[in-house]
Amino acid sequence: AFDVQIGSSGDLIAIPPDQSIVSVLAEKGIDIPVSCEQGICGTCLTGVLEGEPDHRDSFLTTAERERNDRMLLCCSRARSARLVLDL
Ligand code: FES
Repeated sequence: AFDVQIGSSGDLIAIPPDQSIVSVLAEKGIDIPVSCEQGICGTCLTGVLEGEPDHRDSFLTTAERERNDRMLLCCSRARSARLVLDL
């Protein structure tokens, strides 16, 4: 499990191992636009302000992944204990 922090509000939200970031955020009333939900289309691309994503999509290039400044919230997770998202 890891925590996601909403950059604009500071709210800290725990992401359990069996749920995606988008599904947990939706339960909290934060609706991220999604389409494929498989890391292919790029619809759920979101800025990362702090922390290191565990990229599990097939949308970003290797160079884009290494910048760790954007991630696909439908499928990617975190390597760090906390991710601060540009939301
Ligand atoms: Fe398609 Fe996330 S919804 S990449």
